[in-house]
Amino acid sequence: MSPPLPKQVKIVEVGPRDGLQNEATPINASDKVTLIEKLSDAGITYIESGSFVSPKWVPQMATSAEVFEQLTRVKGVTYAALTPNMRGFEGAIAANADEVAIFSAASESFSQKNINCSIEESLERFVPIMAAAKNANIKVRGYVSCVLGCPYEGEILPEQVALIATKLYKMGCYEISLGDTIGVGTPTNVTKMIEAVSTRVPIDKLAVHFHDTYGQALTNIYAALQMGIKVVDSAIAGLGGCPYAKGASGNVATEDVVYMLNGLGIKTSINFNKLLEAGWFISEKLGKAPISKVSNAYLSNK
Ligand code: HMG
Ligand code: MG
Repeated sequence: MSPPLPKQVKIVEVGPRDGLQNEATPINASDKVTLIEKLSDAGITYIESGSFVSPKWVPQMATSAEVFEQLTRVKGVTYAALTPNMRGFEGAIAANADEVAIFSAASESFSQKNINCSIEESLERFVPIMAAAKNANIKVRGYVSCVLGCPYEGEILPEQVALIATKLYKMGCYEISLGDTIGVGTPTNVTKMIEAVSTRVPIDKLAVHFHDTYGQALTNIYAALQMGIKVVDSAIAGLGGCPYAKGASGNVATEDVVYMLNGLGIKTSINFNKLLEAGWFISEKLGKAPISKVSNAYLSNK
């Protein structure tokens, strides 16, 4: 029998990073800062605020150092950065990021396209990051991409996901976020994948990260909650995607997730109206409607 639904869920807001990294309209540092401040004001306690990657590869993230420097930080909020290598880690530390995230994949081809190296090489690059992070007392989160399918290889076996997740966990990542990068999963394979991973990594060290390309993200989150997952990644206004996964659309919208959690009676500590405002703010800057059914429904009733 599956455990009861959790009483509380932590939202990891990835909009300012995963969301904006794939938006073609340039957003300046000051608008990113305003977005992040609106998100913290809405009660979000964990915000992935930027990444320290090559600006040639991901131009939208080139202002991440400025963003971290200009932020007015709220006590109790974690401002995290995505870092692919030591250079990125050093940039994140210099900018006073509270935490960093490293990222690998369950698919060799995706690893090559995304970070120009094999899975094994990516793990080797993370070894000095883990050591430096330990020295600096910085927590490290780990991502595994393509956990339910790869744009280049197709099907990915749950065992392969479990293998990479275990490696990141054993290296010292305190939490492993399981990424359906191209949003192809459905509840049955979500359940099988989480079953496989949780035999090796404790379920309370796992998070889910769904892109909503095929419109399955909320259903998949519900399936994950039924398995005992209590940490959900999402992006305000459903922004973004991954530039190295063709066709990957935005992450599941934070507004849609919080609406569902509220309906389920699961606590999040988030002020829903302020959350909607944050989504409308960044959507206006991008010149498009939020990719959130809930947000658009509220917008049309305003
Ligand atoms: P590379 O070309 O293999 O490595 O890139 P390199 O060491 O030869 O460096 C190339 C250039 O980048 C050099 O500059 C370096 O100095 C510079 P140049 O000499 O050409 O002027 N460089 C850097 N600049 C800034 N910050 C750095 C850095 N490192 C090198 N940290 C690299 C390797 C990893 C850098 C590159 O492939 C890269 O930046 N990739 C970006 C990957 C990325 O950000 N992808 C999106 C995020 S992952 C994602 O979205 C998935 C996730 O959401 C989960 C999911 O949905 O599944 C997490
Ligand atoms: Mg992602």
